Amino acid sequence: MSLFVTFEGPEGSGKSTQARLLYESLHTRRFPVILTREPGGTRIGDLIRRIVLDLQHTEMAPTTETLLFSAARAQLVSEVIRPYLEQGGIVLCDRYADSTYAYQGYGLGRDLAELRVITTAATGGLRPDLTFYLDISAEAGLERKRRKRPVTRLMGQHGIEQEWNRLDARELEYHQRVEAGYRELIAQDPERWRVLDARQSIEALAEQIAAIIEPYLASIPRLETVPLC
Ligand SMILES: Nc1ncnc2c1ncn2[C@@H]1O[C@H](COP(=O)(O)OP(=O)(O)OP(=O)(O)O)[C@@H](O)[C@H]1O
Ligand SMILES: [Mg+2]
Repeated sequence: MSLFVTFEGPEGSGKSTQARLLYESLHTRRFPVILTREPGGTRIGDLIRRIVLDLQHTEMAPTTETLLFSAARAQLVSEVIRPYLEQGGIVLCDRYADSTYAYQGYGLGRDLAELRVITTAATGGLRPDLTFYLDISAEAGLERKRRKRPVTRLMGQHGIEQEWNRLDARELEYHQRVEAGYRELIAQDPERWRVLDARQSIEALAEQIAAIIEPYLASIPRLETVPLC
């Protein structure tokens, strides 16, 4: 058995924080686990990430944006996610295909049926077993990110990865459409999603995530401890 877990939610909702904490706790317990993220997670995907999130690329057409995210995803699934799951491991992914439906679909108004075709081609139909939704309003999530903004802007001028990215910079209405889109996605597939109130403390959220994950771990064998000589 394997386990594929994704983290979704608006900007600044705490996805990366919680994905990292879960990774650390599972790794410490010697479960076979990897943490990856979208867009990126591979050498090719990280190059695509820089193109797609660069604040200067204001001319990017919505179709280009969709295909770039999907290209990065195709590489990640084929190079990292699928091989690790085939070995029976746990894959934690910070954003995945639901982000395309929420951001390019509901946010930018791209046709959802078309996105489904592109996404299935990119993923080979691979879907998460479990998806955590860190639930916070678009306004509150963006506000958390804005607090870090001056530093990251400076980094951007030097060509280093920018946390305040091209998609963050879109208008609030766009982010509200994304948030509403996520709610539609959750309603369509409630079994897979676990909705958490992301306004709680980091520690409280981590505890809830750990408790939800626990029953899924029963079928994952832990790594052998190397005997000490
Ligand atoms: N539960 C929380 N309460 C308060 N602040 C938090 C909480 N979780 C994360 N933060 C802080 O909010 C900011 C955004 O967190 P994080 O980067 O984990 O969010 P994210 O959802 O991954 O954002 P992004 O959309 O940029 O990838 C960070 O400064 C983080 O320390
Ligand atoms: Mg993040």
